[in-house]
Amino acid sequence: MAKKILVTGGTGYIGSHTVVELQASGYDVVIVDDLSNSSIDVLDNIEKISGIKPAFEQFDLADAAKTDEFFSRNSDIEAIIHFAASKAVGESVQKPLLYYRNNLMSLMNLLDCQLKYNVANIVFSSSCTVYGQPDVLPVTENTPRKDAESPYGNTKRVNEDILSDSIAAFPQLKGIALRYFNPIGAHPTALIGELPLGVPQNLVPFITQTAAGLRDELKVFGDDYDTVDGSAVRDYINVVDLAKAHVVAIERLLEGKNKKNYEIFNLGTGNGLSVLEIVNGFEKATGVKLNYKIVGRRAGDIEKIWADTTFANEELGWKAEKGTEETLLSAWNWEKKVRGIK
Ligand code: NAD
Ligand code: WQD
Repeated sequence: MAKKILVTGGTGYIGSHTVVELQASGYDVVIVDDLSNSSIDVLDNIEKISGIKPAFEQFDLADAAKTDEFFSRNSDIEAIIHFAASKAVGESVQKPLLYYRNNLMSLMNLLDCQLKYNVANIVFSSSCTVYGQPDVLPVTENTPRKDAESPYGNTKRVNEDILSDSIAAFPQLKGIALRYFNPIGAHPTALIGELPLGVPQNLVPFITQTAAGLRDELKVFGDDYDTVDGSAVRDYINVVDLAKAHVVAIERLLEGKNKKNYEIFNLGTGNGLSVLEIVNGFEKATGVKLNYKIVGRRAGDIEKIWADTTFANEELGWKAEKGTEETLLSAWNWEKKVRGIK
């Protein structure tokens, strides 16, 4: 019988792509999402890609009673991938309690239920934000974490600690924290992708919305950094590549291939690209000219970061495969589909 995986936040951006990859690998998926940052329509689009509509329940995982009641009816869950979280860095500065309550309580409620209902395995969505501006590049999993720049970033750091402390205390638990670098792009079918509410804060959605005419111009935040062209550098990872890493992580836990009960992996390409390189790559990939202007640095931004992916490559046997232009084109095709642009 197919193994049942709970995907929290499964109608969201990375979660929806991961559900498709899990289904392609034969897993039975149940999604829990409160739809605070995603749409129910995503379920139909997942079905269009995979031929299978995943089971879905809508509730807030920060609600302990509802989470417990869900597990009491789903005792056959073998592993959890925990995407559900609030993720807007700027909003987290304005609403810290909402971020701490949502992100910390959700994980703690899941861990309580794992212990109560004997669900051993969990994969947690962490972020390269835990490294802040590292002193040495690229960053390995052993690069020291730094104080978070925002309440959002702090929830990732604290959640990593909640997970590792719980796994140390309860040997029946096993977990993997995946530290994503900058996920971008969309499914090649353009049926699922990133749908930011309001004005996008992240680079690629802002680029595609500018190209689609929703925004007048892209502001490039800073050209005086110590980088190849002065604009800030990040490690942009294709969301489908990222999704596939979750399937490998789940298999590692279910098949007992993990070397420790708590493991951490960086998920990036291993290459840093500047904002201007992304802008140029977008224009080259799509043939669309982008209206942009250089402005001052954005508060709280780091100068440069990219991943050392050796551990993920060697231990997980996973590697990012898709090129940047292919990925930027997928983001554009998704934006065009959403806006009805031919
Ligand atoms: P997303 O907002 O698209 O997806 C998160 C989903 O979780 C949404 O569908 C939302 O409705 C749901 N959700 C939020 N709080 C919930 C709650 N209390 N109960 C039930 N559902 C809830 O975000 P994403 O980009 O897919 O990110 C997924 C995970 O990856 C998050 O934990 C995020 O912090 C992490 N992450 C994202 C990035 C990124 O740049 N996108 C980078 C690093 C880490
Ligand atoms: C990328 C680069 C901007 C918008 C954030 C979170 C981080 C993680 C990923 C979850 C930066 C520049 C952007 C624009 C620009 N999320 N930029 N003009 O800041 O690396 O990381 O998302 O864990 O925690 O902080 O990503 O996409 O916002 O920015 O010039 O309109 O693009 O300054 O150099 P960032 P981003």
